[in-house]
Amino acid sequence: MNRAPLIFLGIFLTLAFSWTGIILVNQIGYGSLKPVFNEDEGAAYPLQTPGLAARGKLVYEDLGCIYCHSQQVRRPGYGSDIERGWGERQSVARDYIRESRVLLGTMRTGPDLRNIGARQTDPTWHYLHFYDPQITSNGSIMPPFKFLFETRKIVGQPSPKAIQSKLPEKYQPKPGYEIVPTERGENLVAYLLSLKDTYAYPETKNVYVEPKPEAGKEEKK
Ligand code: HEC
Repeated sequence: MNRAPLIFLGIFLTLAFSWTGIILVNQIGYGSLKPVFNEDEGAAYPLQTPGLAARGKLVYEDLGCIYCHSQQVRRPGYGSDIERGWGERQSVARDYIRESRVLLGTMRTGPDLRNIGARQTDPTWHYLHFYDPQITSNGSIMPPFKFLFETRKIVGQPSPKAIQSKLPEKYQPKPGYEIVPTERGENLVAYLLSLKDTYAYPETKNVYVEPKPEAGKEEKK
């Protein structure tokens, strides 16, 4: 008996079902999402990533930050992301529509960074943390990224970007030298500061979580 047509039909149906389920259904559900225009602020959210930050995103990809950091805040009940202060609300599909490459991540060796730009707003904090995570976060297992800085001779005026005055004694350069972030370092920090989903869309109004009054009481104990 010739079973070839049946086998081909089976293969065709399997591929057709998976294509429908994985590609078509998502395309219909999320493919048409548009930015939401906020008339009071005159801005369309999510915002476009500014140029410096867009270059910083490439550095983030290049250095493999994604192996330890995610960029997605899970909804309440699926983890304690919101209690940990990683965001005011869960991440939704619309947050990512401006990004050609979405860096959701799968591992959380370190904290989620989707809203790091709202949490750590001081660029100097980020520079010190990259120079040596122990300076800002004692006991951290994040590796240092000293190659994002250069030690150079001070010519004329010292650079306003120099960080050595904030570094511990053991990292002080020779007199007459200064430690400044490289262009990649500056771009990376601009990218981190741009990461903040601190606005609501129609669909997030339903999932926004107000801080619970009980949680505040517990802290005071
Ligand atoms: C080996 C895993 C690992 C890698 C790789 C890594 N990190 Fe981290 N990161 C951590 C851990 C653990 C912490 C928490 C302790 C700390 O603050 O240092 C952290 C903390 C952070 C924080 C502070 C988060 C907060 O909520 O205060 C930022 C910002 C950060 N990392 C950015 C980066 C960037 C950018 C890269 C890539 C250049 C990177 N990390 C690579 C593990 C990692």
